[in-house]
Amino acid sequence: MEGILPDHFEDLWRELEPVGRVTSSGGYFRQPFGAAERELDAWFVEQAAARGLRLETDAFGNRVAWWDSGSGPGVVTGSHLDSVLDGGAYDGPLGVASALAAVDALRSRGFVPARPIGVSVFVEEEGSRFGLACLGSRLASGATTWGDARALRDRHGVRLDEAMASAGFEVEDPQPWLGSDTFSCFVELHVEQGRDLVDRGEAVGVASRIWPHGRYRFDISGQPNHAGTTRMEDRHDPMLTYAMTALAANKQARVAGQRATFGRVETAPNSTNSVPSGVTAWLDARCETDEALASLVDEITRQARDRAARDGTTLTMTPESVSGAVAFDVDLARRIAADHETGAWPVLPTQAGHDAGILSAQGVPSAMLFVRNPTGVSHSPAEHAEMPDCLAGVDALAETLERLAS
Ligand code: GLV
Ligand code: MN
Ligand code: MN
Repeated sequence: MEGILPDHFEDLWRELEPVGRVTSSGGYFRQPFGAAERELDAWFVEQAAARGLRLETDAFGNRVAWWDSGSGPGVVTGSHLDSVLDGGAYDGPLGVASALAAVDALRSRGFVPARPIGVSVFVEEEGSRFGLACLGSRLASGATTWGDARALRDRHGVRLDEAMASAGFEVEDPQPWLGSDTFSCFVELHVEQGRDLVDRGEAVGVASRIWPHGRYRFDISGQPNHAGTTRMEDRHDPMLTYAMTALAANKQARVAGQRATFGRVETAPNSTNSVPSGVTAWLDARCETDEALASLVDEITRQARDRAARDGTTLTMTPESVSGAVAFDVDLARRIAADHETGAWPVLPTQAGHDAGILSAQGVPSAMLFVRNPTGVSHSPAEHAEMPDCLAGVDALAETLERLAS
């Protein structure tokens, strides 16, 4: 504890800020098992050691730094240190730095927890490298098996276990260990990924639920041919099938008040003067209910198949991951939102996925605190939170931990 003061959140933040940032956009590339993410992981290990916290690490690299005190399953808070490609500074690291600062604040005021308090970091939350979001918390809680995970490949064809070995891991079968017998509850602080708190004029909010969401791969094959000599009516162009599918996804989601995005597309052979042989595109879809999600994806797929039939292309659709609706623990959210000292915090739903959602679905009572984001923008270099709001978040988290661990 020596040398670590409660107002050191700003210092912690300054240490994190340059890691993995590129000068071209100002965004972050912190892919799991890559250099920047490993540097942040080493930083976390140092922070745990500087505080005398007991570090537990599983075979996948997920970490919990324990402030051992009292008895029983712990109250755990934390987030992730990986980012999407060209992401923002706050999504993930804000929750980790705030957790460390909240522990500092509680210790400096002499709080003695009645149960252990843990600060966690889960690996590959974004699924930006291996395609499956929240992979670390899924493996830790048994929601995904190592048998299914180890064969996942990144976009360069590197298998998950190969990436881990290159990062210095002795790859072994990570056994699930996380449940309500280890975590009495989990609280994740996160930058808000929309503008609800801005509109409400509040610095901090509490999550009520996560919309169901999924990732679906569309593989479209056509006939590669010459871009000049092939008459338009003779083509079997998978790019057209894809283009119409992207328009259909946008229209269907708008009509239904839901969300659908094609953010990643690969085309082969990616040649300017050739009709492509194939297009692979990933749909990210999110809806208010599981039924709405299924019906939105069915409708987009139906329209893609119709168009493929007209284009003379072939379509295969593969769901790569689907996460059902998550309702956070109502009592926990109410306790956090209503009992705090300065008035009720607003309770908001979110369309973003989080490790807290995985833990909740696996039976660990979970909650989230959101910190206002003035741009409302996330998964982008423009993601932001003002320092006074970050400090309000640290206070809110410390207050919450104190209540839950008393
Ligand atoms: C994670 O941030 C997601 O919602 O995709
Ligand atoms: Mn996140
Ligand atoms: Mn994210």
